[in-house]
Amino acid sequence: MVDPLPLSDRRALVTGAASDIGRAVCAALAELGADVVASDLPGAGLEALRQEGVELRPADLSSMPEVVALCSTPADILVSVAGFAHVERFSAGDTTLWDKLWQINLRAPMLLTRELMGPMTERGWGRLVYISSDSARAGAAGEAAYSATKAGLLGFAKSIAREVAAAGVTANVLCPGVIDTARSREILDGHGNMREALLRAIPARRLGEPAEVASAVGYLCTPAAAYLTGQVLSVNGGITMV
Ligand SMILES: NC(=O)c1ccc[n+]([C@@H]2O[C@H](COP(=O)([O-])OP(=O)(O)OC[C@H]3O[C@@H](n4cnc5c(N)ncnc54)[C@H](O)[C@@H]3O)[C@@H](O)[C@H]2O)c1
Repeated sequence: MVDPLPLSDRRALVTGAASDIGRAVCAALAELGADVVASDLPGAGLEALRQEGVELRPADLSSMPEVVALCSTPADILVSVAGFAHVERFSAGDTTLWDKLWQINLRAPMLLTRELMGPMTERGWGRLVYISSDSARAGAAGEAAYSATKAGLLGFAKSIAREVAAAGVTANVLCPGVIDTARSREILDGHGNMREALLRAIPARRLGEPAEVASAVGYLCTPAAAYLTGQVLSVNGGITMV
């Protein structure tokens, strides 16, 4: 018989929980029975999640002490959704922004993993899921620095997967294509006919929904995905097939 609540004894930490994808991930994990701890920058977006019965842990992931403090209570599942996206011609690259991209997109998930993986391996069960981007696999003009940090997650997750597989912990990367979120709408609306060009290029002829990313994350966190580790999965309507 299929267990309708396969994560009922699991505690999940979700960063970037106030984003559209983050909220969908929190909902998907809660639906699978997990006890969800939602983290994001303090503010109304995070507060809105209170009504959904999740525990709130505000934190600025660009601060190393705040990231470490976030891990004071062990978690069985980490879903790293928080991200900072910045679009500009690389020749105009601002190194202050590169530092911010590195801190939020790569250093924070690395630190969270360092803090959480020990207890996971001791308990013999854990799930690490990193939200990267299809631009990390295929490239995207205007997103060189962002893509570099998101691509770092691929090598990182594969290496961690090898370190912890025998202890029952998996590490995987999920690469969204173009998902219909407030942030992607903001980027698309600010860039001429980008939306139309993308819709022509995406074989599914539509943008993805946050829930479609979240259901793949949910599956990666279930016991059924115990043998699935070190993998990179794109949820992208077929725009890249690598
Ligand atoms: N929407 C897309 O099409 C798309 C495509 C590829 C990848 N992604 C990735 O998916 C994730 C979610 O994207 P989204 O479009 O839902 O919304 P988004 O890009 O707005 O989400 C980013 C989240 O990270 C949080 N965040 C930013 N800086 C932070 C900091 N210093 N400390 C703590 N939290 C911080 C934000 O508050 C926000 O909730 C991001 O990592 C993004 O890079 C999105």
